[in-house]
Amino acid sequence: MIGCPTPDTAGRRGVAGGREWAVSQAEMIMSSRSFAEYRAMFAIDDRDLDGVVLDCAGGASSFVAEARAAGVRALAADPLYSHGVGAIADRLAADLSQGNAMIDANADRFVWKWYGSAERRREMRLNARSAFMSDLRRHPGSYLAAGLPRLPLADDSVDLVLCSHLLFTWAGRLDREWHRAAITEMSRVSRAEVRIFPLVRMGDGEPVDFLDELQAELRSDGLVCAVRRVPYEFQRGADRMLTVHR
Ligand SMILES: C[S@@+](CC[C@H](N)C(=O)[O-])C[C@H]1O[C@@H](n2cnc3c(N)ncnc32)[C@H](O)[C@@H]1O
Repeated sequence: MIGCPTPDTAGRRGVAGGREWAVSQAEMIMSSRSFAEYRAMFAIDDRDLDGVVLDCAGGASSFVAEARAAGVRALAADPLYSHGVGAIADRLAADLSQGNAMIDANADRFVWKWYGSAERRREMRLNARSAFMSDLRRHPGSYLAAGLPRLPLADDSVDLVLCSHLLFTWAGRLDREWHRAAITEMSRVSRAEVRIFPLVRMGDGEPVDFLDELQAELRSDGLVCAVRRVPYEFQRGADRMLTVHR
């Protein structure tokens, strides 16, 4: 992995101290969004991809695989990478069906303009999943088995950090304190910016009620945060990301 940081296996602790993952990994769907979805969700332009990009909560996204193919230096972190390629492949088939079933059962909560159709979305997920699996097999060093709020990476070791569908999505289970610790940790490893999407909860798609208070806390910690509109909406009303930098 040329030009990407080497994991700091000493496991530097973030501000979160002893707090571990508050959601069991079995509960969380390991979804597989594509590079195109990431570009839209995070309003990424070509200049954003000049440096090293960390996909934190990478899941089965093909972001790293497609970024590599485009000559971008990228890596991903997810606690599920510790399970090994075989177990991940087995799990992905079930997770894809579960994700599709959840969307079918709540169709009125989604907007199809960006995808065009349910079939197109499913096709993108399948393509992303197979690009992820083949990249994971060929370049396992690009996939760190690690979870927020602690990343085994040195301070300032990457440029952009992208966090899709973990923070805020799971706000029913991960509290404000956990979010503060997770964002502080992503900011620690990032030289440029942390981008987080979406800002609504999974399930009911409602805005996260502690977002304003969280931003105030992050500002009091010396971080700069802003909410920006992005050219992507799937969960109805979820068309904004949070950006954070030091
Ligand atoms: C809904 S998936 C999103 C995957 C990918 N970012 C995407 O958009 O397709 C959420 C991912 O978060 C991962 N995850 C769970 N707890 C985590 C933690 N504490 N730190 C980092 N990732 C975590 C899960 O294993 C799962 O793969």
